[in-house]
Amino acid sequence: METILRGESITKKFGGFTALKNVEFNIKRGEILGLIGPNGAGKTTLFNIISGAFPPTAGRIFFEGRDVTGLKPHQICKLGIARTFQIVRPFNNMSTLDNVLSGALFGKDAVSDLKDAYERSLSIINFVGLEKKKNKLAKELTLHERKMLELARALATNPKILLIDELIAGLTPLEVQETMRLIGKIRDELGVTIFWIEHVMRAVMGLADRIIVLAYGEKIAEGKPFEIANDKRVIDVYLGGGLIE
Ligand SMILES: Nc1ncnc2c1ncn2[C@@H]1O[C@H](COP(=O)(O)OP(=O)(O)OP(=O)(O)O)[C@@H](O)[C@H]1O
Ligand SMILES: [Mg+2]
Repeated sequence: METILRGESITKKFGGFTALKNVEFNIKRGEILGLIGPNGAGKTTLFNIISGAFPPTAGRIFFEGRDVTGLKPHQICKLGIARTFQIVRPFNNMSTLDNVLSGALFGKDAVSDLKDAYERSLSIINFVGLEKKKNKLAKELTLHERKMLELARALATNPKILLIDELIAGLTPLEVQETMRLIGKIRDELGVTIFWIEHVMRAVMGLADRIIVLAYGEKIAEGKPFEIANDKRVIDVYLGGGLIE
């Protein structure tokens, strides 16, 4: 399979602190790639670099073979890379529909026709199961619903690849099940490649094709879920770091 997104020797320093050190990754089109690691490992920082929030100190990001390092977030988004945020931040005083519409209008093939954007937003709202909440204000939604809204906003930009930053922490077991099914559908039905940070190990293990493990800014393992589950360094980091379910 063809590579869609690649990171080459990504290093990020904040002052004297090295948050990422020579991290390499490679995602194939159509893949679900999990990204795990203890708190502070550098996972969100890697997403910030991919999505253009700030440039890496060293290293390059390639999307569909093109060097996109240092592009601004709106440029990255228009190329077809969308993300969700660990701390969801919808426009609280706007309805679900208007929030999703803002993504649709901002997206890759910016729709000048409001009607198209409106219809696309409604269909995405249905896809994530928020159809009954479309006229509710974002601030009236539950945590699960706000997370679904976050996903819908990202999907409305019509991405080729979606960076998901912790969608299921804090949800009930049933909501976790539903969200996992949805992530599978995003790949299988919408054809979107997925790079997925998650702390809930059994969810990532159950859905990802491959997993990358970061610890203290370095990649310490990469492989299929069963390989990661049996990797001594990974077990040490998690037991030593006091993670997880
Ligand atoms: N903008 C920033 N300025 C300074 N330090 C930062 C910045 N962003 C992240 N860091 C630091 O970089 C390290 C990695 O942070 P990051 O948010 O990437 O971790 P993470 O793996 O996403 O952790 P978590 O699982 O808790 O979300 C942390 O020590 C954090 O304090
Ligand atoms: Mg994070």
